[in-house]
Amino acid sequence: GLVDIKVKVNGEEYKLQVAANLRLVDLLRDKLGLIGTKEGCGEGECGACTVIIDGETANSCLVLAAQVDGSEITTIEALGNEDKLHPLQQSFIDNGAVQCGFCTPGMILSAKNLLDHNPQPSEEEIKRGLSGNICRCTGYTKIIKAVQDVAQ
Ligand code: FES
Ligand code: FES
Repeated sequence: GLVDIKVKVNGEEYKLQVAANLRLVDLLRDKLGLIGTKEGCGEGECGACTVIIDGETANSCLVLAAQVDGSEITTIEALGNEDKLHPLQQSFIDNGAVQCGFCTPGMILSAKNLLDHNPQPSEEEIKRGLSGNICRCTGYTKIIKAVQDVAQ
């Protein structure tokens, strides 16, 4: 069946009618065109689809659009763009923490959420904060350094 939902995404209000089984990742990518959110595993394992829902990170492949009725969602598109990057985005570039880039939106949102709650995390806390995000390319050292540089 269909359900009516009201969500705020990156500060914009949407009233939508969606299939009851539509996943949040598909709502964002297919219905709202926010393709910065990536789908990797589709099973909650990789973190590529990470978004922030009401101040907490979530895997948007595991959440139904119907479940976010009344919520506020932040995707990577809210952080920066080619003209003005978010400090985390700039730091990822400066530190060589982006290779294929597939994990990067999710990594940056997890890092942002971590810093929002804990502006000066230890290395351990950064590792824990990013533990749900898998990167096949970088070996994590540069990613951790990129987050550390912004935290200081
Ligand atoms: Fe959602 Fe991998 S695509 S966790
Ligand atoms: Fe390729 Fe992280 S940069 S998966």
